[in-house]
Formats: sequence, C-alpha cells, structure tokens
Amino acid sequence: MIDIHHHLIYGVDDGAPDVDSSLQMARIAASEGVTRIVCTPHANDTYPYREDVVLERFGELREKLKGEIELSLACDFHMTAENIQDAIAHPRRYSIDGKGYLLIEFANHVIPPGMDQAMFQLRSAGYTLIVTHPERYPVVQQNPELIATWMQQDCLVQVTAGSLYGRFGRAAEALANELLERNWIHFIATDAHRPTMRPPHMRKAFAYVRERMGEETAQRLFVTNPRAAVEGVSLPAQPEPEGLWEDRPLRFKLSRQGGDMGSGGGAEGAKPSFWKRLFSK
Ligand SMILES: [Fe+2]
Repeated sequence: MIDIHHHLIYGVDDGAPDVDSSLQMARIAASEGVTRIVCTPHANDTYPYREDVVLERFGELREKLKGEIELSLACDFHMTAENIQDAIAHPRRYSIDGKGYLLIEFANHVIPPGMDQAMFQLRSAGYTLIVTHPERYPVVQQNPELIATWMQQDCLVQVTAGSLYGRFGRAAEALANELLERNWIHFIATDAHRPTMRPPHMRKAFAYVRERMGEETAQRLFVTNPRAAVEGVSLPAQPEPEGLWEDRPLRFKLSRQGGDMGSGGGAEGAKPSFWKRLFSK
C-alpha cells in the first residue's frame, strides 16, 4: 500500500513532534503493509510551508529509513490566495514529488466564493487536484453536493481511512461509506499525525473496503491509484461514479434533512450532536 497523506516530517506542523516519533510512525506504517509514505506537511496560516526545513528533514528521514520504507514529498495544501499564487508561480512545488498531483484542503466551515475559479487556475497551471477528506468538513457535510461539483470539474477524492469505520464521527462515517458505495473515492489515506493519536493505520481500512467492495476496489484505492499519483501518470480506468452525471443527490443529504444523522463534526471521536445527547438522557 501507499499512504498519500501523512504528517510524518517532525517539527513542521501538528504532526510528528520529534524525529523519534517520525521513525515510530514510519515503522508502524511499514508493519501495516505500507511500502511508501507521501509526507504531507501543512501549508496554512498556522503552519506555513518552510521548504528549507521540510527538505532537510525529509532527506534525514529518508536516509534513516532506507531499506525499511520509501518516502515521497508533497504538501497538505490549504487553499489560501497566497498559497495558490505561490503554487502557480512555482509550478509543481507542492505536488507529490513535483509530478503534478496536489492534495488540497479547505477551511472547516466556509468554502469562500471564487473557490471554483481558484481550482480552475491550479488545474490550468498543470496540477491534478486531490480534495482531501471531504467527508470530514462540517461545511461539506452541510452541502455534500459540493463533492459532486468538484468531481465534475475533474477533482479526485481522498477519504481518510478511519472515517470509514467511525473514527471521525457518525456523519463522516456515513458520508465516507456512501462515497465508497458510489465509486466516488480515488484514494484512501491515513492523514496520520502521531504514533498514537491519529496513527498511521491502513490495514483495517483495507480489509474493510475489501470486505464491502471486493479486492479490485481495495487494490485500486490503496495501491494502484496512489502509485499513479506518485509516478505522476494518469490514473488507471476507474469505475463509473454512480449518479454523478445524473445529479442524483447523495442519500446522506436526504438523511440529514430527515434530522437523523447527528453532526459528526470534523474531529476524531466527535461526540453525538447536542440534540441527540439531550434527548437520549
Ligand atoms: Fe492532513
């Protein structure tokens, strides 16, 4: 397996705090059957992308982990105006190994107007956009049709492994599973941050997908699509995303309108909604 979203590089964001944690996370990943980690430090207002530090520590970790696991370099690219301008000015700086696949993230609660235009500009600059964990954003849970809009504009979708089995709340779980059933997922990755908290676990999600959707789908989401992204080539043929072009609304949306979904939120282990907790007493 290849994990394309992992905060392995220490001391540059809220991921690994020190070199020992980085090494521990990499070795957990290897024990899970991961052969390559794509390191994706944040690039946002809280954690600006310090390219010199990132490159230095990436090189150090790659050296220390030689023979155990392969590393690639990319970025958890926050869609700010400054980042977008920089990415366009420095083609492929932030993409996976500089080969064009760019993992993009949004703010949790607002998708600003003009985002479609910004995404168009990045695509025009040569990037292939991967929307990271849409199932976890409260703003997307409120407006899941955004996912269809992005996919219709050639964006790819990466879901967090733990979302599939409830690690990020019930809403994220329900949305992730519907995306899976509809073939609206292209990658599953850990978004690992620490050895214990948000750990780099892939095996459980792989088994989950294989059980639900079969071996071919599991291989595609955990192995062949990630490999194509790392190599910077087109993805292999994908199954038809069900209902995408017919604008068939997600069942998730309908459930939410019925008020039976709970908020889920964007955080791991999110509690049931206020109303659920109130009425279950
Ligand atoms: Fe991330």
